[in-house]
Amino acid sequence: MTVADQETTTTRIRHPFHVDDEGVNRPPGPDKHPYYGHFAATGSGVVPIVRQINGEPVPALLICRYADVKEVLRRQDIFSRTAARHADPIDLTGIMLGMDGAEHARVRGTVKDRFTRPAVHDLAARIEAEAAEQLAVLRARGGPADLLADFAIPLTLHAICDLLGVPPADRAQFRRWGDAYLADSELTRDEAARAAQEMGGYLWAQLERRRGCPAPDLLTRIAAAAADETVDIQVKLPISLLVGGWETTANSIATFVHVLHSRPYRDHPTAWEYLLDHPAKLDAAVTELERLYSTANADNMPRRVLADVTLPSGARLRAGELVIASHDAANRDPGVFPDPERMDFDRDPNPHLSFGYGPHYCLGAHLGALEVRTALGLLLRELPGLRLAVQPGEVRWKAGHSILGPEELPVRW
Ligand code: HEM
Repeated sequence: MTVADQETTTTRIRHPFHVDDEGVNRPPGPDKHPYYGHFAATGSGVVPIVRQINGEPVPALLICRYADVKEVLRRQDIFSRTAARHADPIDLTGIMLGMDGAEHARVRGTVKDRFTRPAVHDLAARIEAEAAEQLAVLRARGGPADLLADFAIPLTLHAICDLLGVPPADRAQFRRWGDAYLADSELTRDEAARAAQEMGGYLWAQLERRRGCPAPDLLTRIAAAAADETVDIQVKLPISLLVGGWETTANSIATFVHVLHSRPYRDHPTAWEYLLDHPAKLDAAVTELERLYSTANADNMPRRVLADVTLPSGARLRAGELVIASHDAANRDPGVFPDPERMDFDRDPNPHLSFGYGPHYCLGAHLGALEVRTALGLLLRELPGLRLAVQPGEVRWKAGHSILGPEELPVRW
């Protein structure tokens, strides 16, 4: 029996799972919906769901088993992003995240060497300095403060803007454009398209300027290496780095600080206090937080099945079906992560899929991970008395948003 056959007897589940009666995604906090773990551990691991995309119901199959998710993400020849474009919550035309095969490899290839582990390692001192600078600003202002807006966002925005070469005076505007681009509402496509158009106009001017007057920055690299691509592709390359780069990372920092302060760990009242006593555990702790609280929320990347295929679990899919590989579910597959809902800083190995896998594996994974580790390490060292300024349950979480994170994170120290 194929999954399509099973569908005739199964009611499709509304997705994202946190969607409420008004159709708005309202996650109650940083925890992912219990369905993820449930579907990864039981049944076929292939779940018929329905999503509202720009007001239209779009049926799809949610892929939940670890090995199946990897297979879907790995095989671009069978699972196409381009052929699933109409089901993307935002228009990804011209953006590498929405491309397949040779086009994707070509566009990604223009910048990928700047994001390898060694290349990012060379940025460590600069990011450490940027984090220290933002912390000094935070301290000078005094508490209470919003850790997201007053520390995490400036840090990650400046880090990617430094790399690209976006002048400091223009960065606040990028923040506004990026928020509109990533917002997830009824108006998403229109708002996002307008923000992308304005960002595109600005970036095109920057690229043109670099062609006449090269600078030691990534925009100059894009201006040269992507010169034969369409204007659309050229301007959307830096957009994807900017937008993909700061919101995700900033929200990881804020979410992880919230979790560390609101969960006991071993014999410590909070995981934060555990890390104060065991600073060498920071890297492993961040990896585990990435697994459980992935910032890339709501399984936003549908793929179209191009030919009948059998997944490693034995589930069969038919050509034409729409699938969504859920890294949140895969990260809870008990066959790979024993006792998956338990936060365990000694989990080893911890091959989570929160940065994706295969050809679309997050280009900025090393950079994002470095920024998060640098920020948390600095806060633990320099502000050990940091604490939430409200009860953990009072923090409001982004609603209807493709990124997991608090609206704001009030803190004191
Ligand atoms: C820590 C925070 C981050 C998380 C959780 C995250 C998550 C992800 C995920 C899950 C994907 C894959 C989507 C798919 O398979 O379809 C992805 C792709 C991508 N990410 Fe990240 N990301 C983060 C940080 C960054 C940073 C710092 C950058 C900036 C350089 C970045 C740029 C990108 C780009 C350009 C892609 C598309 C890659 C492609 O299509 O080939 N990300 N990210």
